[in-house]
Amino acid sequence: MKPATSANQAAHLPFAQAFVGPRGHSLLPGGFGKAITAVGPWSPMAVRGAGWRLWDDTGKELIDLHGNFTANIHGNAHPAIVAAIENAAQCGLSFGLPNHYEIEHARRLVDRLAGLDQVRYTNSGTEATQLAVRLARARTERSAVIVVNGSYHGWSESVLPTLGARANRGIPPGMRSETIVIGFDDVEGLEAAIASTPERFAAIVLDLLPNRIGMVQPSDAFVQRARRLCDLHGMALIVDEVISFRLARGGLTTARRLDADLVCVGKLIGGGLPVGALVGKPQWMGELDPLGRNSLEHGGTFAANPVTMAAGVATLDLLDEDALVRIAALGQRLRDQLAEPLSRHGWEPRGMGSLCRLYPVFVTEAAEVAEQQRRLWWALYERGVLVAKHGVCAISTVMDEAVIDRAVAAIDDAVKVLS
Ligand SMILES: Cc1ncc(COP(=O)(O)O)c(C=O)c1O
Repeated sequence: MKPATSANQAAHLPFAQAFVGPRGHSLLPGGFGKAITAVGPWSPMAVRGAGWRLWDDTGKELIDLHGNFTANIHGNAHPAIVAAIENAAQCGLSFGLPNHYEIEHARRLVDRLAGLDQVRYTNSGTEATQLAVRLARARTERSAVIVVNGSYHGWSESVLPTLGARANRGIPPGMRSETIVIGFDDVEGLEAAIASTPERFAAIVLDLLPNRIGMVQPSDAFVQRARRLCDLHGMALIVDEVISFRLARGGLTTARRLDADLVCVGKLIGGGLPVGALVGKPQWMGELDPLGRNSLEHGGTFAANPVTMAAGVATLDLLDEDALVRIAALGQRLRDQLAEPLSRHGWEPRGMGSLCRLYPVFVTEAAEVAEQQRRLWWALYERGVLVAKHGVCAISTVMDEAVIDRAVAAIDDAVKVLS
């Protein structure tokens, strides 16, 4: 397999070259208003989406397997979600009073997450994990948290050190030292981290299908040990389901019968609008009672706004067991059909349920993996398939087998051409 040099990269990416040129991007640092959409110096722009289709500003039609980083679980502009947004918006966009939609939304979340009875809303998944960590720190009156190397939990200071040295920039050393990073699925590392000073730790933060690590699941031995250690030492077990909530009715926490104290959700639960939420046991969530004597400070001008909440209610109502089973089967079809052809070129379709990550196993360094996935991104774009830049494909409920088969043909061809 060839390493990606700029020369062979250019040879493989004639389509990318078409986007080189002034497009008003100089108004934005590096050309991007949203950093995670950067897949090279320039990018095509989205102008419209409908169902599983998306069109860019050259009129090119794409199969949208990206779904805005897995959030759009019912595809683009689903009529029921758009109608819910329109209905809510006609009565006002955001208020300085609570609204009924937030109760309806929270009811649906706690109904899906057994044992967790209260919800606090934020405007992003980042804020949800940030709030979970601060809440755990406040309640335990301890400062350190344990996170898993490579797991992404958003970009707040306490959880960013999982991504290595570059991600530590801008984090004061004192703060950095309060985040202890252990290896993926490393039971001994977890025990060793806590053993000498258990009284230091407020929480363990887990993702049950960490995307950046390559969408692999930690073992039962690891997650149950984390639960046991939290019980032994009075720490909070925080599970980040911002992506994985789409995999089962109550996310992987429920599917794996894990007794979490606090679960962070986001992405799909806002129906395509900005959202995050913390769902937890009342003994922890009570810290957030605004009328409590020593309540934890938490703001959010737009949190739980009626438009997002209405979109989320419509989305969750559409996402019943049948829909979940159907998209999981489509995901399995995608992975099954890709396994053999991709293996011939050193790629693997990883993931589970409605999530798949196209992973280059012929390279080992994280930077090389990212580069191969970036090259694949462009090769797929040229063939009319949009995936997220880490090779993540997210199936939406508006897809069917024919769409998956078209995507399989394009992915197969793209990987062949790149090898
Ligand atoms: C597992 C996980 N947690 C947290 C986040 C942060 O969510 P947001 O981008 O909404 O801030 C992400 C975002 O991709 C994520 O994948």
